[in-house]
Order: sequence, then C-alpha cells, then structure tokens
Amino acid sequence: SRSSAKELLYNAEKGGYAIGAFNVYNLEGIDAVVSAAEAERSPAILQVHPSALKQGGVPLVSCCIAAAEHASVPITVHYDHGTSKSDLLQALEMGFDSVMVDGSHLPLGKNILYTKSISSLAHSKGMLVEAELGRLSGTEDGLTVEEYEARFTDVAQAGEFIDETGIDSLAVCIGNVHGKYPPSGPNLRFDLLEELRALTTKKGVSLVLHGASGLPRELVKECIALGVRKFNVNTEVRNSYMESLKRPEKDLIHVMASATEAMKAVVSEKMRLFGSSGKA
Ligand code: G3H
Ligand code: 13P
Ligand code: ZN
Ligand code: NA
Repeated sequence: SRSSAKELLYNAEKGGYAIGAFNVYNLEGIDAVVSAAEAERSPAILQVHPSALKQGGVPLVSCCIAAAEHASVPITVHYDHGTSKSDLLQALEMGFDSVMVDGSHLPLGKNILYTKSISSLAHSKGMLVEAELGRLSGTEDGLTVEEYEARFTDVAQAGEFIDETGIDSLAVCIGNVHGKYPPSGPNLRFDLLEELRALTTKKGVSLVLHGASGLPRELVKECIALGVRKFNVNTEVRNSYMESLKRPEKDLIHVMASATEAMKAVVSEKMRLFGSSGKA
C-alpha cells in the first residue's frame, strides 16, 4: 500500500532499523524493488532522480505510485536530488510523497533560502522534505584530503539549518560518497555522525545517508546504530541491471525478467542488511 514517508521513518526510528530508498529508472526497476519488498515483508522507498524523470516523465512517476498502491507492503515515492527550483516546482505537482531539496552546492545562507522556499510549499501539500548539508563528493572528484573534509556536514550549521528550514530529514556528509568508494575503502567519521545524531534527535529530524552502494556491512550496521534511518542506494542496483544485459538472452521478455531478478537480489540483500526485512 502507499504509505506516508512520515510513517515509514517513524516506525524505523521506533524499531531501530533503516529504510532503503532505491533509485528506479523504469518498470523493471520498480518491479524489482516492490517484489523484493513483498518477498522480504519490508517497507521501501521508490526514488526518482531528476535524470530518470527527464527520461521517463510523468508516466514513470505514475508507475511508481500505482506500484506503491498495489503493493502488499508499505511503499512511498520520493523525488531525489532536487537541485533546480523549477524542476522541484514541477515535482511538487506530480504526486510524490516526499522530496529532496538539494541546495548542498550553495553556501549556507543560500542553501537555507532555497530549501525554505520549497519546504513550505511541500509541507502545505503534505509532503516530507529531505535536505542536504555539506557536500557529497564523487569518487572521481580528485580532491585533496583537506578539500574533501571541508565538505563534511558542520554540526553548528546543521542546527541553524534545521531551525531555519523546518525540514523533516537531513542527509549528512561524513565521508560517504556517491558511486564507488576508493580502493582503500570508505572512511566514515562516526564521531561526527554521533554529534549529528544528538542534534537531529533533539530537533525531531531523521538522519539520511546517501551513497550507500559500496559500504561494507559492518559500517552500515554502525550507521544504523548511530541513528541513520534512510539509506539511498543507486549504483549497486543499476550495475546489477547492466551486468544482466551482458547475458546472451534472445527473448525480450527474458531480458526484462533477468534484469528484474538481478536487481531484486541486490535490493533484497540491502533490506536484510538495513533491518527492514520482516517489518511490514
Ligand atoms: O523525513 C522524511 C524525508 O523527507 C524524506 O522522505 O526519506 O521517506 O523519502 P523519505
Ligand atoms: P550510490 O549510487 O552510491 O548508491 O548513491 C545513491 C544516492 O545517494 C542516490 O541519491
Ligand atoms: Zn544521493
Ligand atoms: Na556509494
């Protein structure tokens, strides 16, 4: 069934686990997430990035919503990485349950103004708002260690940001990155996560971690113990799709089915790792 993002995150907080938000691009992706959620008896978030929306348009969002409504477990539909105000204004009309207002590329003052301008509108439509503070790097950004760490979420700024914007959840930067981690592995600042957790608990805001692909199991578990309630997963699911296309299938339906199965396996494993399996 289609559930509110608020209910999913509230239950995750109460139960001490996290919800997976999986980026989807087409019907196979949607099917993979929903069938994994049903098999695992897990809640889930279907997440649409602006680039996916540009390709799939309103029908992609409608498919997400229809799939959520028909699912036997709670599913919500989320708009990921809204870096453009005009795109976000359009997204607000498409029926998402929650949106990410991503002003993380802006200086603090501008990020506050940007996030605030959308969050009041989104809230008036009953949507939850996620925002990001700090700046998530990609592995290929080529930054020095100092430049990299300067992008981490600042606790004092986060307090001001939450008070000023009224957001529901905060995506933090503690060494997590989109895509692959360097060969040396992820280096997450758990001391910083702990401080951010104390702050967000006080403010009643959920903690979100982007870049969950490539995070070893122990680090994911530690993040959950320190309060992360939503993990964004894209690369691992997408790669399993791309790999499945290399198999010598001849029939289109078989190509689609094996792509769905490949993604479903990755999604199911994440649900078990996040602790959301069996919670629906
Ligand atoms: O508090 C919830 C946030 O606004 C994000 O929503 O994590 O359910 O996608 P979501
Ligand atoms: P990964 O591609 O590293 O899983 O990150 C996904 C993400 O943060 C989507 O918003
Ligand atoms: Zn992200
Ligand atoms: Na990642």
